[in-house]
Amino acid sequence: MVAAAALVPAVLPGLVPAVSAASREPVAADNGMVVSAHRLASTAGVEVLKRGGNAIDAAVAVAYALAVTYPEAGNIGGGGFMTIRLADGRETFIDFRETAPAAAGPTLYQDAAGKVIPGQSTRGYKAVGVPGTVAGLELALTRYGTRPRAELMAPAIALARDGFVLDSGDARFLASGAEDFARDPGSAAIFLNRGQPWPAGHRLVQSDLAAALALIARDGPAAFYTGPIAQRIVAASRANGGILAPGDFAAYQAVERQPITCEYRGWRIVSAPPPSSGGVVLCETLNILEGYPMAALGFHSAQGVHYEVEALRRAFHDRNTQLGDPAFVKLDVARFTDKGYAARQREGIAPDKATPSASLGLPTALPEGQSTTHVSIVDKAGNAVSLTYTLNDWFGARVTAPGTGILLNDEMDDFSAKPGVPNMFGLVEGSNNAIAPGKRPLSSMSPTIVTRDGRLAMVVGTPGGSHIPTGVLQVIRNVVDYGMDLAEAVEAPRIHAQWLPDEVAYERFALSPDTMAALSARGHQLVEMGYHNQIAAIVVGRPAAGPAAADDRPIGAPANGATARLYGVIDPRLPTGSAEGY
Ligand code: GLY
Repeated sequence: MVAAAALVPAVLPGLVPAVSAASREPVAADNGMVVSAHRLASTAGVEVLKRGGNAIDAAVAVAYALAVTYPEAGNIGGGGFMTIRLADGRETFIDFRETAPAAAGPTLYQDAAGKVIPGQSTRGYKAVGVPGTVAGLELALTRYGTRPRAELMAPAIALARDGFVLDSGDARFLASGAEDFARDPGSAAIFLNRGQPWPAGHRLVQSDLAAALALIARDGPAAFYTGPIAQRIVAASRANGGILAPGDFAAYQAVERQPITCEYRGWRIVSAPPPSSGGVVLCETLNILEGYPMAALGFHSAQGVHYEVEALRRAFHDRNTQLGDPAFVKLDVARFTDKGYAARQREGIAPDKATPSASLGLPTALPEGQSTTHVSIVDKAGNAVSLTYTLNDWFGARVTAPGTGILLNDEMDDFSAKPGVPNMFGLVEGSNNAIAPGKRPLSSMSPTIVTRDGRLAMVVGTPGGSHIPTGVLQVIRNVVDYGMDLAEAVEAPRIHAQWLPDEVAYERFALSPDTMAALSARGHQLVEMGYHNQIAAIVVGRPAAGPAAADDRPIGAPANGATARLYGVIDPRLPTGSAEGY
């Protein structure tokens, strides 16, 4: 292999590229880093850090700001998960996943003949789960934050009240929801200009949302769950065929849980437990891959992709047939993250032949959206937050409760509308994820933190529905196995596989024609895909995990308490985000 330095033309003596493929350098900073899907939200978070707030404070500010500047997925009408690692090594997880309303049951989206009615679980008020974001941010702030709620919400309130100027990325993204906004007067009044999308350069003012945020800032979750906001959402739901009731809001609780953990080649992964499948899929896949010489096989070699697809096939099969809300189904999660289990899974993987997905067994009974977004934050002390939250589909159910400015989720589609029938991600699931009152739908969100030798090394996550664990997995393996710089790891083209459909999806340029031919010869079905992920990631210490030069710091926060250099990258696949540090 030619060393990168040898490629530097002699006319540029001494200039050794910091990255070895055509890629930007990560954003570097010494004191704090925020990576999010919207530049104004990232700025709001960095300002909190500069004023001495910690990573949890910054996450609350960013999450509320995204609810204004990134209505595609930023939200207070949805839910999500926050993985936290404190500088002292404590790790925790805040679950603020939406719940099914009390009036929901397993056949909610089926007709009298038992057929799933298309669209009912994805558009309109009937698709809406009880939102968890306000409760979850409050729980995180109360237990681990340091700043008053009102201070952290002030930037979001100002952005909604005074508006912000749409850039071309914002305008393009908003325009993608225009057709559905036109059918919902509450959304049309805000997101459309007399029925047409707002152009770039327009200042988007959201007065109702500003008022709702100001109420929450003053009165806390009570304003949302038992006060005027709940009342308005319930009234809109009742007027439009929904089933939300005041009791659903009053009963909502965010929950603190233990994250899922596993080791991959000496790196420790801390990720989302059920009701997310993210940590299980990530850990099970990594455990299986650990038995193969992935680094030697090389990035996207036919053999390496074959093993990765086979590992994902098995992890997604377990996801879809076994997992669900732990308050409703008995789960032995440790079984899936056990190294011995992975070794037994490897025994069923032939090196030269794809396993037909159906041969793994179909679920006794059988669904997921993409309007998700991820925030990665590290503060000066080394506290880290990995936050993924969502409306499910882009712009959720595409309804805005009049008088609130709040776009509502369609998270009910993450339940299995009918076991055996694929959801919007083609995920086919079992009865463990059937709809029940108060139950949380199975998720794929994977807010992840990685440590090395007991020190914070990486914060990573992404939107993408069922593509979330595969996106996170590929960034981790690009860094760990292929020695990529963080920017290279995030920007490298991706593949995706998920048991059913039984196919290997690839981004353009991810696989060469001869690699594809070698995979086809093993029996894999190949299909080109568009972009599903927007990775937001931070590495600590230095931007790549490969061999260090003599004067390089090791990857991971320094053991001696000295400030670590932070490197942040936002995926360029979506046009609105930024990595900002100070
Ligand atoms: N709605 C996307 C997820 O929860 O994974």
